[in-house]
Amino acid sequence: MDIKRGGFASKLGIILATAGSAVGLGNVWRFPYMTGENGGAAFILLYIGCILLLGIPGMVSEFVIGRYAQSNAARAYHKMSGKRGLWQLVGHLGILTSTIILGFYAVVAGWCLQYLFASLAGQLNGDSSYVSEYFRNFSSNPWKPCLWAVAFILITHLVIVRGVQRGIERASKLLMPMLLVLLLVIVVASCSLPGAMAGIEFLFKPDFSKVSHSVLLDALGQAFFSLSLGTACLCTYASYFSRETNLLKSAGQIALLDTIIAILAGLMIFPAAFSVGVQPDSGPSLIFITLPNVFQQAFATMPMIGYVIGILFYALLVFAALTSTISMHEIGTAFFTEELHRPRKQSAWILTITCSLLAIGCSLSLGAVDGIKLFGKPLLDFCDFITAQIMLPLGAFLTSLFAGWFVNQQLLKQEFLTGIRHNNNVSTAIFHAYQFSVRFIVPLCILLIFLHQFGIL
Ligand code: PHE
Repeated sequence: MDIKRGGFASKLGIILATAGSAVGLGNVWRFPYMTGENGGAAFILLYIGCILLLGIPGMVSEFVIGRYAQSNAARAYHKMSGKRGLWQLVGHLGILTSTIILGFYAVVAGWCLQYLFASLAGQLNGDSSYVSEYFRNFSSNPWKPCLWAVAFILITHLVIVRGVQRGIERASKLLMPMLLVLLLVIVVASCSLPGAMAGIEFLFKPDFSKVSHSVLLDALGQAFFSLSLGTACLCTYASYFSRETNLLKSAGQIALLDTIIAILAGLMIFPAAFSVGVQPDSGPSLIFITLPNVFQQAFATMPMIGYVIGILFYALLVFAALTSTISMHEIGTAFFTEELHRPRKQSAWILTITCSLLAIGCSLSLGAVDGIKLFGKPLLDFCDFITAQIMLPLGAFLTSLFAGWFVNQQLLKQEFLTGIRHNNNVSTAIFHAYQFSVRFIVPLCILLIFLHQFGIL
């Protein structure tokens, strides 16, 4: 296999890279704010349901297609279809989706960079209204957030063209567990704040009366966003997998890790938010106006420790975001390199420039320039909405129909079973369960959720 295509170093490395793609701002930034907007525990239950029932089979489908074809996403769908029909369009849709996501994701990643430097400089010290004001002023500033966002995309670009994935993979082995440990420490700190219990209850005591009408689609979109599902990202990364990789097991492990980190992020944010009086439905600003309070108040007697933990946390968050932006960038770069026969460097620039322009538009739409709106939403919110709630579910829906109904089922079975060590009746039965789920459960559930959202059901 041509491992060189993406510059990945080893079998373990590519699995780590896939986990790195999944774990990112989707867990630490988006999951808490979505949970807050959708009433807490009930949303989390639906979210976990979506991961188990739709997410894992969806991941396996993308893995099967990518590893079978060993090429960029568009060509992978084409190859797997036996070169019939227009299935490469699903790959194109994924490439478009990940490009849009990179555009707005970089803005939030840029905020994390700003917070890293601000916490180093000790600028985030103050009461909760100071912290909220700080965020409002910074995010609506015309220059700074744009520069940070573009800087973030350029860092991603460097990793992609320098082929330093190897270094990133090595760093992941250390930094991912560190993120997990640090999250645990902050969870304990946050839960020990006065009045934290209300936040824990909000997270674990379902109150279905608080659930908004769009909660199902939000849970679905969040599950897919967090798993990087429906963007052809998993398909692209799977094209670098080895034939010994057990696809189902990898999907399960990545989904488990991803969910644990999301729940920990919730446990870090809500007890603190309730304690300092930040509204749980504050939207995208939620973690930025809550966390500085945790670092200050929970460590009030040991300010130095709070200072260091704050810095470490933002640094690890930046790293987690980077492993995700690399994956979004790689999807388009692999596509342009292989389909337009351009050198990798040039292809990377196409993506970097497009995403930077989009990121600038998204950042300015938050207050610096009035009127960068689509359907009444600031551009950033619109891009978030259209990708997570429409394009990702659509991508996963089409992929499921493709794998379940159009791909030669013998081929599907063979690729699914490749890498499973003990190939026996049990693995065949598991394959049949997977096949049933991609044929019926996944497409039907996504369809029903869409119909419900648009008021038809
Ligand atoms: N899953 C990533 C996160 O949780 C975001 C992402 C979406 C990455 C789509 C790649 C493709 O942060």
